[in-house]
Amino acid sequence: MKFFIDTANLDQIRDAQELGVLDGVTTNPSLMAKEGITGRNNILKHYVDICNIVDGDVSAEVIATDLKGMIREGEELSELHDQIVVKVPMIRDGVKALKYFSDKGIRTNCTLVFSPGQALLAAKAGATYVSPFLGRLDDVSTDGLNLIAEIRLIYDNYDFQTQILAASIRHTMHVIDCAKLGADVMTGPLSSIEGLLKHPLTDIGLAKFLEDYKKGN
Ligand code: G3P
Repeated sequence: MKFFIDTANLDQIRDAQELGVLDGVTTNPSLMAKEGITGRNNILKHYVDICNIVDGDVSAEVIATDLKGMIREGEELSELHDQIVVKVPMIRDGVKALKYFSDKGIRTNCTLVFSPGQALLAAKAGATYVSPFLGRLDDVSTDGLNLIAEIRLIYDNYDFQTQILAASIRHTMHVIDCAKLGADVMTGPLSSIEGLLKHPLTDIGLAKFLEDYKKGN
């Protein structure tokens, strides 16, 4: 399972990278705005800054919603850095753009996916990653994890190579559950990854080992 961090915050990305288990970064226009990154040139520069911190894939989202615009922006983004993956929304022209980019060998992440049918379309169009937003489904009383399971089943039935990128992860149990269900990638806040290392018995056990060591030395 690959671990991505879902943020445009460079300090958090550095922290995650230093932990040694980071495989990539996802961003979106809201996350960019949260960091105060505005204006096309600043946004493009920020993507390059992120690529220079991490070793893996960095998703950069198109803003256009028409095919021509998505192609123009996507090609510009993909030329920024070889780690860039073009993030395309699951809309009609988005499907066409996924196919266009796939034919050109440009890697893509199909975002804003909320149903198995949308995930099937993304795979048919050749998306590299598909991003089901499980936390946002949970927010509206719908089982987000069930969507991950349904997509896994469909992709395995036909051996689709599109990777399931479980997105909108909110906490550590989401990470564990997605791992059990066979999601290829998770993306969430750094806290959802850091939560994996916590266990009170580890802390108690370590304190006892150190105490016993001191007694004998
Ligand atoms: O990767 C998708 C993500 O950015 C959405 O997360 O927490 O805003 O639903 P959230």
